[in-house]
This record gives sequence, C-alpha cells and structure tokens, in this order.
Amino acid sequence: MLVSAKEMLDKAKAGHYAVGQFNINNLEWTKAILLTAQENNSPVILGVSEGAGKYMCGYKTVVGMVNGMLEELNITVPVALHLDHGSYEGCLKCIEAGFSSIMFDGSHYPIEENIAKTKELVAIVKEKGMSLEAEVGAIGGEEDGVIGAGECADPNECKMIADLGIDFLAAGIGNIHGKYPENWQGLSFDTLDAIQKLTGDMPLVLHGGTGIPADMIKKAIDLGVSKINVNTECQLAFAAATREYIEAGKDLQGKGFDPRKVLAPGFDAIKATVKDKMELFGSVNKA
Ligand code: 13P
Repeated sequence: MLVSAKEMLDKAKAGHYAVGQFNINNLEWTKAILLTAQENNSPVILGVSEGAGKYMCGYKTVVGMVNGMLEELNITVPVALHLDHGSYEGCLKCIEAGFSSIMFDGSHYPIEENIAKTKELVAIVKEKGMSLEAEVGAIGGEEDGVIGAGECADPNECKMIADLGIDFLAAGIGNIHGKYPENWQGLSFDTLDAIQKLTGDMPLVLHGGTGIPADMIKKAIDLGVSKINVNTECQLAFAAATREYIEAGKDLQGKGFDPRKVLAPGFDAIKATVKDKMELFGSVNKA
C-alpha cells in the first residue's frame, strides 16, 4: 500500500539521512526503482512530473500501475507516489487519482499567492492523510519546458511557508535540474544553514540531485536535507546502456530485437544508479 512521505522523512531528518525521490517514466523505470528499494530495504519516493504523468496516460494509469506492482512484486518497504512540481490543478488531479503525496510548486508566484495556494492545499491534503511539499525560490535548469535561474530562497519566506502546515520544504540553494554547468558555483550552504535554523524540524528537500558531488550531498544532509530528488542521472544511465547494446549490434543477433531484451541493459543501469544513491543518501536498511 502506498504511504504518505511524512513519516519516512521525519524519520530521515531525525536519523540524519535522506530518502531518494526517483522520477519515473514508464513501467521499466518504476519496476527498477521498486525492486532496488526492496532489495536494499530502503524507503523510496516515486516522483511523477506533470509531463511524465501525461506521457504515462494520466495519473490514474500511474496509480494503477504502481499499486499493481506493490502487490505483484511483494514490495513491503515504504513507498510514496509523489507529484513533482505540481500546478494547483495538477495537485487536485493527483489527490483525486490516488497519489499519496504531492508537491505544489508555487515558487514562480509572488510570495503572498504562493502562501494562499499552499494553505488551501494543506487543508485538503491533511484531510486525506497525504503529504505536501511546497517550494520557495525557483530551482534552476529546465524541467518540462520551465526554465528557472537557480535562485537562493529567502530564509524568512521559507519560514512563512513552513509554518503553514506543510510536511517538507524545497528551498532553492543554487541547485539546478539536469547537468551542472562547468562554472557552477556549488550549493549555498550558508543559505541552507539559515533556512534550517528558522525552520527547525521541517525536512528540507534538495532538487537537482544529478551531478552534485558526494561531499556536498553529505554536507547538505548534515544541514537538514532529508529528501533528494534524482531524475536526469537515471535517464543518462538508461540511455548509455541502451546505446551500448545497439552499438554492439545485439539487437541483430538471434531474438535480440525482443523489447524485453532491448530494454534490459537500461533497466539494470537504472537499478545500479538507484542503489548507488541509496547508499550515498544513507537510506539503506532504513525501511
Ligand atoms: P535532476 O534531473 O537534476 O536529477 O533533478 C531532479 C529533480 O529535482 C526533480 O524534481
């Protein structure tokens, strides 16, 4: 059964580790992440962007697929199904469809509007026993056509949003989605420190997990990050493994064209990537 992400992230914050959110794109992605979580006895959050939800034939299809896998694959570790960077309307759709957690990304609104919309969603989500992530300070890079600049959030605004009754908070600290550019300045730990001092026990979320060096990840966890989102890194690993299979001409040998064979190396590559991250984040054996 899907669970809200609140309990697993409160435990992570208290235990000084982080739970990974891995974004899903299709059946192979979902199966690879769930099996890896089970094998490593780790809690996990499946992230679904609005674009990926549309690609997978809508939120109801996603809920049906994930619930089916939890049962058929005997997954017993805590799993949350979470909308990533949701619009207000997208949040309502996911609540209706049976997600267990949502993110409302109001970071592009003026702070008053972000507060007002987040507050409305807190009330709805609480009643359903779901968890809610809010965002302050746009995360840079491109996601689903939306380009942000990688701002650093204002700690006072973070405190205002954290006090609304949300369950975890994404705050921009110079992180961006996708690959980091050569001249990236790194994470702003001063900003993170100031945010944690004001928000206390609130689990903090680090987006743009792809390509952040291990020492920065560890320091971010020390400063209160309890959820780390990873998307691009699984895509790169999947694409590289698939390329290798095709370039070696394996699809031309015997029944190598069978989709279950073509997709197998990419599937294994996602599993290896997710396992590495779970080890780095410290969530292994924390189910
Ligand atoms: P990356 O694609 O950079 O790993 O970021 C993922 C993310 O933050 C999803 O919200």
